[in-house]
Amino acid sequence: MPSKAKASNLHAFRTSQRAAPLSDFGRDLIAGLSREARSIPPKFFYDAAGSALFDRICDLPEYYPTRTELRILTECAPQIASHIGSQAEIIEFGAGSLTKVRLLLDALDAPRRYVPIDISGEHLQAAAERLRADYPQLTVQPVVADYTMPMVLPPQGGATGKRVGFFPGSTLGNFSPNEAFAFLQLAQRMLRGGGLLLGVDLVKDPALLHAAYNDAQGVTAAFNLNLLARANAELDADFDPEGFTHAAFYNAPLRRIEMHLVSRRAQTVSIEGQEFTFDEGESIHTENSHKFTVDGLRALAVRAGFRPAAVWTDPERLFSVHWLESPTAQ
Ligand code: TRP
Repeated sequence: MPSKAKASNLHAFRTSQRAAPLSDFGRDLIAGLSREARSIPPKFFYDAAGSALFDRICDLPEYYPTRTELRILTECAPQIASHIGSQAEIIEFGAGSLTKVRLLLDALDAPRRYVPIDISGEHLQAAAERLRADYPQLTVQPVVADYTMPMVLPPQGGATGKRVGFFPGSTLGNFSPNEAFAFLQLAQRMLRGGGLLLGVDLVKDPALLHAAYNDAQGVTAAFNLNLLARANAELDADFDPEGFTHAAFYNAPLRRIEMHLVSRRAQTVSIEGQEFTFDEGESIHTENSHKFTVDGLRALAVRAGFRPAAVWTDPERLFSVHWLESPTAQ
């Protein structure tokens, strides 16, 4: 019978799938849900659907960081360019929005090389092609790597000016304080003789922060819940997306927005044959977004070996862009 044949084919498919080693996502998800305080690492937000939702977040009226940072970069570009000087090489940490680096490239005098580093290669090659077409004088060398790990950059033929790290979007705030410090130390060593252009979000009225991560259209909620849809699609998992709700709030003592997925009822979810039981109201912590003061960020940068040389903010002091020089080793 055809239906039986189908069923047995399906069985064979599933069996062979299960024999395959678990993906990083599967492994980290199971590990994160097995802990007392449950969590999912935020790097798994960015599959194709998650990346598209994130682009929509950046356009939301409540989500001020992207637009404010773009405004600072645009208005302060000549000053930024004068700190950086000519013939610079730009190393961007994270695949980055091409809009942001283009603002920089347009303002700089004869930039030589651009090296975007990202763990996901998909976006990277296509983005690099477009950039090459628009900046024919620029050497564009994308690197697929985890930028929180030490790495060797591709060799650069010929002399260049300063080596400049570019880390916009307050992604630094998505690290724990220890991770942020470790990242800055690593970057400082990589950028000796040059510096880091760093965008970080500032401490402000909690009501503004709350609105930015709880938008009226529910795009941030969809972005958060997409983690569960991704688990269902890529793993053998049976999350009921209606069974969880998005929660984001400002933790004032720790100066951070926390994002969680909260179980709306007592339920059991099966992932790769393992069962996870959730109480009503139990949460899975999915992201932190730390907020900084200008002085706090500069003190952290000094501890990591940088010399803070300039800072630019918008008139309302919502967001800040820092130029942190990395002295040459003595
Ligand atoms: N780093 C930015 C921030 O913390 C962007 C970001 C990362 C974000 N994850 C997010 C924004 C989740 C909204 C929701 O704000």
